[in-house]
Amino acid sequence: MLSGDRLGMRSRLWNGIRLGARAMVFDRLDFRFDTAHTPHGRRELARLIEDVFEIDVTPLDRLGHDPSVVSFGWWDGETLVANVSLYERRLRLLGRDLAAFGMQSVATRPEWRRRGLFGDLMRRALDYADARAELVILGTATPEVYAPFGFRPIREFSCSGPIVPTVEPAEARLLSLSDDADAALLRDLFALRAPVSDVCAASDHPALFMLKALEDEDVRLLHLPRLDAVVAVEASEPGGSGRLVLLDVVAPQIPPLARIAAAVDARIRFVEVQLTPDKLGWTPAEVVAEDTGYLVRGVWPLDGMPDSVPAMLTSMVI
Ligand SMILES: CC(C)(COP(=O)(O)OP(=O)(O)OC[C@H]1O[C@@H](n2cnc3c(N)ncnc32)[C@H](O)[C@@H]1OP(=O)(O)O)[C@@H](O)C(=O)NCCC(=O)NCCS
Repeated sequence: MLSGDRLGMRSRLWNGIRLGARAMVFDRLDFRFDTAHTPHGRRELARLIEDVFEIDVTPLDRLGHDPSVVSFGWWDGETLVANVSLYERRLRLLGRDLAAFGMQSVATRPEWRRRGLFGDLMRRALDYADARAELVILGTATPEVYAPFGFRPIREFSCSGPIVPTVEPAEARLLSLSDDADAALLRDLFALRAPVSDVCAASDHPALFMLKALEDEDVRLLHLPRLDAVVAVEASEPGGSGRLVLLDVVAPQIPPLARIAAAVDARIRFVEVQLTPDKLGWTPAEVVAEDTGYLVRGVWPLDGMPDSVPAMLTSMVI
């Protein structure tokens, strides 16, 4: 058995080796800022995301990348080995537009992990964000990775209850993002979209919305021409079952939920709304707290709001 002294010596020695290995890695690699808009930088970032998350972001080469993305990366020659990106989020919170950054594409290649690359990139990205915005927000399944950097979960709620659709013909048309005309229609609506809520909503660039629609088999995009709207709904509850799960509404004016339901399918009698519902002209029967994985760092105006004000940001991001 090792005595306390010897244990302490061993752990100091181990820490010394670890710090030495970390210092060496930074000597060997190059830091590069804002490469995500060059053709090679874009390809390398896509390859890193595919390798680490198994998500194909190359459809955005056709559908349109978010020009606000700013990337922070460590490179081994021409290979991107670790990355953290920021992008502008347009948030409407308690009636006010808030300048915020989203954080995405946080990844280190497995063979380069545990050498401090992510920690270094986080410090650089957060310095950049803190100088320009009040808030950084991200979605993750591993909040423990971000807690040491001051990120904390927010409270979100989904709403559900009965609905009586208005009396007007159904008109929903399924959109396909592989069709250039449908993609253009969606982009045009995004350019004009109103925040879906005045209490808590995001009106970001369409890139992540489109990726989510492509990657998640359970998402359908429906065009409702009379309402000049595209809605994102869950495919498992398409309306004919009498139920609708509403994920997002992209429209210059947010239509009442009863009209959305009528346009999708007159048989709908029950809706689940995964959005803040204040503009939908509908009162939910039930409000349930949800762990959506959103974390924030900085001012979150909804902190301390009572549960009677249910808030949820769109899940139509990847
Ligand atoms: C999470 C990830 C980016 C960390 O990259 P990394 O370069 O190995 O991280 P670092 O070496 O800079 O570690 C910094 C700190 O983060 C923490 N950390 C790293 N990986 C972690 C993990 N998987 N879980 C919890 N904490 C972790 C450690 O506490 C470490 O502190 P230490 O200095 O005391 O060791 C990397 O493991 C990865 O790409 N994972 C898969 C994708 C992912 O989970 N992305 C983030 C969530 S969306």
